[in-house]
Amino acid sequence: MKNKKIKYKISHGVYVVTTKDGGCVVDAVSQVSGGEEPLISIAINKGNYTNELVSKNKKLILSIVPESNDGNLIKNFGHQSMRDVNKFETGEYSEVNGIKVPENVIGYLECVLVDTIDAETHTLFIVRAIDGDMYNDEKPMTYAYYQDHKDELIKVETELGKKAYVCTICGYVYYGEELPKDFVCPRCGVDASLFKLQS
Ligand SMILES: Cc1cc2nc3c(=O)[nH]c(=O)nc-3n(C[C@H](O)[C@H](O)[C@H](O)COP(=O)(O)O)c2cc1C
Repeated sequence: MKNKKIKYKISHGVYVVTTKDGGCVVDAVSQVSGGEEPLISIAINKGNYTNELVSKNKKLILSIVPESNDGNLIKNFGHQSMRDVNKFETGEYSEVNGIKVPENVIGYLECVLVDTIDAETHTLFIVRAIDGDMYNDEKPMTYAYYQDHKDELIKVETELGKKAYVCTICGYVYYGEELPKDFVCPRCGVDASLFKLQS
């Protein structure tokens, strides 16, 4: 690819997938069929704990994040793994059929798993939206908006006095003098060109 950054100009929305015992931020979501109960595809990295949980639980909630979100929901669900922290200890939640739904979202779709497709680094979960609710009519956050505002939305704190390279996609921090050219973000899988030296 002549310029890898072009991939980040494919804009989607910003969502939170929750399921029993975990969840994560996703942008790779698209509606793939119409009708009363449409099919939706959600691409989840095979390394993410949420991938394991959705495969096991076979149901999830897809919450729609508004542009007005202060970034805490995105940091909590998109910058750390449920393997390391209990994300549900931060923030407020309601519950829909045993699955937690974050407060301050536009609404949610309750989905059941109908199929999976192996997509190299990711699994495409094909889910059917069987129910949903809308709490307000705010503007949904697009991935393009997130990209344009992520410096304010997800300001990453790094340790003072250490040279730090921050992943501009997910906020992972690499400490070291030089970021290896072949470095791949262990959290979101992007390459070294998408890391920025924190000044
Ligand atoms: C704006 C944004 C969009 C993201 N989009 C996706 C996505 O589409 N698919 C995915 O697997 N991870 C995506 N991530 C990364 C996961 O949310 C992140 O790796 C999370 O820490 C995984 O947590 P888990 O291990 O508890 O599942 C995104 C993160 C952010 C901040």
